[in-house]
Amino acid sequence: MRFAIIPGDGIGKEVTAEAVGVLTAVGERFGRTFELEQLPWSADYFLQSGVTIPPNGYDLLREFDAIFIGALGDPRVPDNRHARDILLGTRFELDLFANYRPVKLLDERLCPLKGRTPADVNFAVFRENTEGLYVSVGGRFKAGTEDEIAIQEEVNTFKGVHRIVRYAFEFARTRNLTKVCMADKSNAMTHGHALWQRVFKEVAALYPGIQATHYYIDALAMYMVLDPGQFEVIVTNNLFGDIITDLGATFQGGLGMAASGNIHPGRTSMFEPVHGSAPKFAGRNIANPIGAISSAALMLETLGLGREAAAIDAAVLKAVRENQGTQDIGGRLGTRESGAYIVEQIKGDKEQDR
Ligand code: NAD
Ligand code: IPM
Ligand code: MN
Repeated sequence: MRFAIIPGDGIGKEVTAEAVGVLTAVGERFGRTFELEQLPWSADYFLQSGVTIPPNGYDLLREFDAIFIGALGDPRVPDNRHARDILLGTRFELDLFANYRPVKLLDERLCPLKGRTPADVNFAVFRENTEGLYVSVGGRFKAGTEDEIAIQEEVNTFKGVHRIVRYAFEFARTRNLTKVCMADKSNAMTHGHALWQRVFKEVAALYPGIQATHYYIDALAMYMVLDPGQFEVIVTNNLFGDIITDLGATFQGGLGMAASGNIHPGRTSMFEPVHGSAPKFAGRNIANPIGAISSAALMLETLGLGREAAAIDAAVLKAVRENQGTQDIGGRLGTRESGAYIVEQIKGDKEQDR
């Protein structure tokens, strides 16, 4: 299998190095050849060449079995145009409409919610990933004056809403889950989110065995904190999904723990940790690589390599339970040492296999 690896900026480079180490180790353990092709697209690359992503960049990406991205964002590129082209560009151009962001607590110790255990925090968020407020439709008029008008349109299409809602229900059905919750702001956004209401009702009717519930997004944020155990699958739009998955990440032990997939079934999909480039942490060997490593596991699982993915997940779980992690999750290891510990668990298990 061939993977495109885009380490990107800041801690993205560091956590990607650890995810690559883990992919290599799991490939060796299961006798698989993973070709990992590093692509340099990043702020550094843009500042040197003026190019964010080459003209054939998206076509190049489509040639791979999957894409892995570390993180993009750099204070030296104030408008982050390289991130827009590389990260959002990949999501849009490859039509990766389903942003799958599992919220799964591995160890009670890591959860900031009082008394919550892994049994209470285990749900999936499906974030619409190709439209909403992210489409860059709008403009600024009389910019910089006191008469400035700034317009940013939210686009909701039947096709876009339908496919993400359908995907969420299909995910629930195939995993024998019984609850799907949709969150919108249809009380205030009476046009765009009326479409979400309509589609959710229509799709829910096709799944009589699944309990379909709705919360307004503000209430959902509250219920996530008060009673996360009520959720199995949450489906929402692009911006709301972005916001609630940082909240969800805190339940898992912080942004360093959260994984994601940007998926279009049957096409080249992209996997990345939920966190960004954390410029303050960059180059200091302190970033937690688990979000990146778990994203690599998600990538293998999505490609049908379930045993390989499970081996990574087991190694991560062991590291967390033994408190062999970075400082954000209460450990003493650096980024590299945390990655190396997980690699050792994967290799050690091979010894046991024999
Ligand atoms: P961020 O996720 O980079 O960092 C916010 C805070 O979360 C950090 O200061 C740190 O305390 C914590 N954190 C994040 N990742 C961590 C890790 N691996 N280990 C331990 N702690 C971690 O968010 P930000 O500061 O808002 O954004 C920084 C840059 O990253 C911006 O340019 C932003 O646009 C970009 N960004 C990119 C992505 C992406 O590439 N997918 C995602 C979010 C933000
Ligand atoms: C994420 C990030 C991105 C988003 C930014 C960097 C554009 O926050 O992947 O969660 O909003 O989608
Ligand atoms: Mn985000």
